[in-house]
Amino acid sequence: MLRSRLLFRNSRSSLLRVSPNSLLASKKTVSPFLYRFNSTTAKVADISSSNYKTAYYGNPSNLSDLDTFARRHLGPSPENVEKMLAQVGAKDIDSFIGGVVPDNVLVKRKLNIEPLDGYSESGMLKRLKEIASKNKVLKSYIGKGYYGTILPGVIQRNLLENPAWYTSYTPYQPEVSQGRLESLLNYQTVVSDLTGLPVANSSLLDEGTAAAEAMIMAFTGARGKKSKFFVDKNTHEQTIGVLQGRAKTQGIELIITDLQSAEGIAQLKDNQGELCGALLSYPGTDGSIGSIMKLTEVADIIHKNKGLFAVASDLLALTLLHPPSAFGADIVLGSSQRFGVPMGFGGPHAAFFAVTQKLQRKMPGRLVGVSKDRLGNQALRLALQTREQHIKREKATSNICTAQALLANIVANYAVYHGIDGLRNISRKVFGSTSLLAGEILANSQHEILNKTWFDTLSVKLSGVTSDSFSEKAVSQFGINVFKVNESTVQLSLDETVTKEDLSALVEIFTGEKKEINTNDLPEFPEEWTRKDNILTNPVFNKYHSETAMLRYLYSLQQRDISLATSMIPLGSCTMKLNATTEMIPITWPEFANLHPFAPRDQAQGYLELINELEQDLAEITGFAKTTLMPNSGAQGEYTGLSVIRQYLEHKGETSRNIVLIPVSAHGTNPASAAMAGLKVVPVKCLSNGNLDLADLKLKVEKHAENLAAIMITYPSTYGLFEPTIRTAVELVHTAGGQVYMDGANMNAQVGLTSPGDLGADVCHLNLHKTFAIPHGGGGPGVGPICVAEHLKDFLPKHPVAETTNASTETAINPVSAAPFGSASVLPISYAYIKMLGGNNFPYASVMAILNANYMMYRLKDSYKIMFLGSKSESNEIQYCAHEFIIDLRPFKNVGIEAIDVAKRLQDYGFHAPTMSFPIPGTLMRRNQSR
Ligand SMILES: Cc1ncc(COP(=O)(O)O)c(C=O)c1O
Repeated sequence: MLRSRLLFRNSRSSLLRVSPNSLLASKKTVSPFLYRFNSTTAKVADISSSNYKTAYYGNPSNLSDLDTFARRHLGPSPENVEKMLAQVGAKDIDSFIGGVVPDNVLVKRKLNIEPLDGYSESGMLKRLKEIASKNKVLKSYIGKGYYGTILPGVIQRNLLENPAWYTSYTPYQPEVSQGRLESLLNYQTVVSDLTGLPVANSSLLDEGTAAAEAMIMAFTGARGKKSKFFVDKNTHEQTIGVLQGRAKTQGIELIITDLQSAEGIAQLKDNQGELCGALLSYPGTDGSIGSIMKLTEVADIIHKNKGLFAVASDLLALTLLHPPSAFGADIVLGSSQRFGVPMGFGGPHAAFFAVTQKLQRKMPGRLVGVSKDRLGNQALRLALQTREQHIKREKATSNICTAQALLANIVANYAVYHGIDGLRNISRKVFGSTSLLAGEILANSQHEILNKTWFDTLSVKLSGVTSDSFSEKAVSQFGINVFKVNESTVQLSLDETVTKEDLSALVEIFTGEKKEINTNDLPEFPEEWTRKDNILTNPVFNKYHSETAMLRYLYSLQQRDISLATSMIPLGSCTMKLNATTEMIPITWPEFANLHPFAPRDQAQGYLELINELEQDLAEITGFAKTTLMPNSGAQGEYTGLSVIRQYLEHKGETSRNIVLIPVSAHGTNPASAAMAGLKVVPVKCLSNGNLDLADLKLKVEKHAENLAAIMITYPSTYGLFEPTIRTAVELVHTAGGQVYMDGANMNAQVGLTSPGDLGADVCHLNLHKTFAIPHGGGGPGVGPICVAEHLKDFLPKHPVAETTNASTETAINPVSAAPFGSASVLPISYAYIKMLGGNNFPYASVMAILNANYMMYRLKDSYKIMFLGSKSESNEIQYCAHEFIIDLRPFKNVGIEAIDVAKRLQDYGFHAPTMSFPIPGTLMRRNQSR
């Protein structure tokens, strides 16, 4: 057992105005459940013990499906529930829940989620097939950061589709995470070697947000004294969009210009003294590759000004191309998607982020480091993981918590499987095919290729045909999508999936000539562009190139970890559910996996239907009017929600409202996200019983009434309690003109019992990777949608390239993610989870989470001190916890036992230890998932 201290958490068309359902081709194709049901039909949910029997066992008639979901996933059987209720001293579920959830909080609004009794597992797959069949998977050359790729079968089956990999938690407990940590270290090594920079993190959320993190590093590095950040205009539109949003909230002046022109250089020089950094793309979004000399000149000007030079790049190109370190980049970032991760209609994909040694302590995200165990053997652990949000809180310079671990692991193993020679073969194929096509276009057509240099992308100015009719013909006659740049220019990016036949089709589209392509003599990558250093020399990239070896390597890694395939993971504040296989199956179906996020909307009808229904179900659950699925994690949801509030207040002319109240018990991402949204944090005290200190809240509200923007409340609280005073707190803030943001990470205790909307809040985020069954992936992916009340719905984020299902209004905020629907390919998981439970059964997911936690608490309470149990809350004694409770181990200190010893002993028995020392030092917090 390691003795290192455990560190716990402590279409391409310009934007259209669209109405919510206008993206769906015709209402005829829409599921009958797409539209919200008339709320006047809303009734009270039945959460009685007798109804639990029906929910659990179903109500089978002779012909109904017998593979019902609830009995496999809700957890305890009705018979066990009886015994558990007796343990906690309650006669039935109704009276138990009545004792846990305060009267003024318990709403029990019946959820209009169809089908009300849920799909059976086979019925769900049938329905999902029907939805998937409405997506048309054409050959995509759209590019713009999303490319076709081949996910090796051995990685698909044994990693992406393997619960031992996808259900594990973030590797905060190194003793039970050495496998994943090794894989993430491999990922960091790939990124570091390819970018030429010495330190890389173990992933960020996507390319756009990674660029924003780089900009913020530059801005905070200059201590906010230099506020101009330059962006080369030859950068993906969605990246610029995300940068614009972040720049606005931080007060950074974004200057978008041609940094590789004489004018751009002059502009840079003119702004010396005010410039904190710049971002440039290499290769550019039009496909061109800047000259090392020119890029060095740009770097020199920035460095003379003590600014940071960030470069957005492409790992596949960098296997051959000189690395950005060669021309002085301080930060290199981008998407690693094309290393085996399907396009998935936009994500999830791991962004990479590498920095110079000097910047390593300022780098956002998680970093795996090599350490030693107590016997001196090499061991891996996360380094710096608690630094940002949990220690620095509002002084944090990044709010990234959940990242993209599972996807980073796919990328790492893709590199392990191919090795540098394999990767370079792929690169040469991509460059060779692109060059061959370019040669044919130049020799046999009137079209002009605008970029004079390329790796995989050609920008073609068309002659004698408009982009629209060209694209239309490409789709209808060849089944090919290209990117429309403007009325006369199209762009296309080639990838490893391109075959000889694909190339012939492309040549025919551009030249009108059908001809046999000789792919034996693909043009060679130019010598002067070719990097000469030795990379990916570590043995791990040279040993596992047969499938047998790869399979065994993956298996050996998974054996070193605890996942839900091994035992339960009882974390506080992080609901870990065993993700149903039926929920997971569709994500690798080609109809969901292989769609480009900017594909014309008539080809994505299945996705749009699923997204629309999911958005509406989430709004129904939270009691709100509208949802956006764009944010890629809970913390990004927080940032989005607060930005929406800021925009709303600005629209009302209340620009001076810039203060957000946050209880001291809040999760660290709350204050960090508030800071990212440009708001000032004022902490609010908590009482010794864990409740919000209303007197202090009143004081702070009165003091800051004029400038109050919002309060952020986690409910049930981070201490695991349903605070009875929640409505008073909401009212206090509203009366002073502030908005109420509810952190929905703990929504698992609320579904069908109460909701942020029912409690009077204005906006909340949800962690679909907690409450709604998306697996934790070993530290991501996450999906952090926000749901908002009616008055905030026109402020939800827009996207500069592709239409979304909501806010495309003038007042919409800038995109918060690179892709229009964030991590779209994992949405079928939450969709299936919700639809297999249905409105009638869903409340029992929360009921069982609460009962499980209280049962455990009652079994342990005579042997351990349980925080807050027995103390007073208002005039009542605290008798029950919500869905989690805190065991106080401090009394054992005088016999030499501390929380860490208990945590490690649990690991000895093959359990993942509960959350330690968060939110209270010296304690363990455990949460019980509902299943
Ligand atoms: C209460 C709470 N809020 C917010 C978050 C942040 O979510 P994420 O890790 O997805 O960014 C967490 C996650 O750990 C949480 O427990």
